[in-house]
Amino acid sequence: MSERTRNLPRRTCHATPGSNEKMLGKAPGLGADQVFLDLEDSVAPLEKEAARAKVVRAINEQDWGDTVLCVRVNAWDTEWTYRDVTYVVEHASERLDEIMLPKVQSAAEVVALDLLLTQIEKATGRTSRIGIEAQIETAQGLINVEEICAASDRLETIIFGPADFAASTEMPVLTGGVQIPEYPGDHFHYVFAKILMAGRANGLQVIDGPYLKIRDLDGLRDYAMRTRILGYDGKWSLHPDQVTVINEVYTPTQDQFDHAFDLLEAYRVATTEGDRRGAVMFGDEMIDEASRKMALKFVSRGERAGMTRSAGD
Ligand code: GLV
Ligand code: MG
Repeated sequence: MSERTRNLPRRTCHATPGSNEKMLGKAPGLGADQVFLDLEDSVAPLEKEAARAKVVRAINEQDWGDTVLCVRVNAWDTEWTYRDVTYVVEHASERLDEIMLPKVQSAAEVVALDLLLTQIEKATGRTSRIGIEAQIETAQGLINVEEICAASDRLETIIFGPADFAASTEMPVLTGGVQIPEYPGDHFHYVFAKILMAGRANGLQVIDGPYLKIRDLDGLRDYAMRTRILGYDGKWSLHPDQVTVINEVYTPTQDQFDHAFDLLEAYRVATTEGDRRGAVMFGDEMIDEASRKMALKFVSRGERAGMTRSAGD
């Protein structure tokens, strides 16, 4: 794993086609916590090789601030993967944080990438270790998600790819990642929960993929709220307008942040002062060690997003 980015927020993970120099130029200024420069499905086959140099130029010449910076290479079942990895990692500066591997089907695919990265790091004398992000977007990948999440200590995130997943499972849909009103419930609920458990059990950040109706911001807000409530860390954006909505959905509200902050303080006082109780009333609820753990998550996510306790109450 990359020490710099392991715990950095990834509320918004912005997809940028690696063949499009205009979009590459705009990507650092959009307010996304993570940007990935894509060599895979948003790049036409005839542009794949030329895109490698464009991506490297963007990494080396643009100011990325503290954005988590990633390149998505092509999947192992294509002819492009090893050259994507060797070209990008050999030519990109240490500012490159991670490589994203799409359509991961087995732990072996992650191990193969880890081995290749280890060789390149040794050969080039890179001092910072490259992290790995893995996409689950096939039926086989979902079946193997638990061993995939445990396959390498370079792994930082596990990501759901709804468009490819719908294609892999032959769902009768034509748009990826959106609600299907005719289905009573959420057609991806099982998938969301399974990926979340595998990711959390291995200490990874867990990320939801794209919402392809890019003009439907209300629909995006509604759909993003589902994975946010389940406990996901963030979601992909495909358009600058989506960045604002997703950052908002994945950041605790000020009320939630203040409440969690106060709960931690009340629990600290209860457990360390006076008659040192482990369970105590906080407002109209009973809190204990489990409440502390829940509150910690809100506070750490809020702090990662730059929030502070509001003054005065
Ligand atoms: C993302 O890669 C997806 O297939 O949804
Ligand atoms: Mg995909």
